[in-house]
Amino acid sequence: MNAESPRPATDGSRVTIHMAASLDGFVARKDGRVDWMETSDEFADGETMDPEFVEAFLRTIDCYVMGSRTYETALRFESQGFGWSYGDKPTFVLTSRELPKVRDTVQFHSGDLAQFVNAQLRPRFRSIWFVGGGAVSGECLRLGLADEVHYSILPILIGDGIRFFDGLDRDVALHLAEVKAYRNGMVDLRYELR
Ligand SMILES: NC(=O)c1ccc[n+]([C@@H]2O[C@H](COP(=O)([O-])OP(=O)(O)OC[C@H]3O[C@@H](n4cnc5c(N)ncnc54)[C@H](OP(=O)(O)O)[C@@H]3O)[C@@H](O)[C@H]2O)c1
Repeated sequence: MNAESPRPATDGSRVTIHMAASLDGFVARKDGRVDWMETSDEFADGETMDPEFVEAFLRTIDCYVMGSRTYETALRFESQGFGWSYGDKPTFVLTSRELPKVRDTVQFHSGDLAQFVNAQLRPRFRSIWFVGGGAVSGECLRLGLADEVHYSILPILIGDGIRFFDGLDRDVALHLAEVKAYRNGMVDLRYELR
């Protein structure tokens, strides 16, 4: 199977790209800061996020995949006392470098991303979440590896930064499958890849 060939439709696995972004489509400032994510808004008609629902939802995710710069951000957050966002789920970090392995669930991978996803992850995991950053999300879409995009829009514009999808070189048609608006002004969009 080459990098662009479609995966078997019957394998039952699902690759989701998820990040939160500003309304103007940035997932971090140019220097990587995400201070703008602490927004304060209130949308009276919005849903309240039920922590039990969120916990149950997170349990449905079988593994995470991220770029090395996102991993470095996660390490920084953890060292600042904000915890590790990926629980005890296997977390695959894409990198060509030697990076510190901070827990047993973290594994590093370099090489052909399409082969990794289709031949190694899909047969082992049902719900595979790509959690950024922009470079890896762009690459995942460019290679046709994703089944859906889950986009959480925060109520803020930041003008410049790291784009949700970096380096896309073609149009990608999407099907809007779900929309949810929350009391804190966040809008969740779920798109399926056509
Ligand atoms: N708002 C959100 O929800 C959210 C979520 C996630 C991340 N972020 C932010 O996004 C920023 C990081 O995003 P980013 O775009 O700069 O970097 P990234 O996508 O996290 O990481 C890119 C790096 O991953 C490695 N890599 C290995 N294989 C790759 C492949 N096939 N495709 C692409 N990269 C590959 C490369 O580094 P090596 O040199 O190590 O090989 C590459 O430079 C951080 O500031 C983070 O805080 C925000």
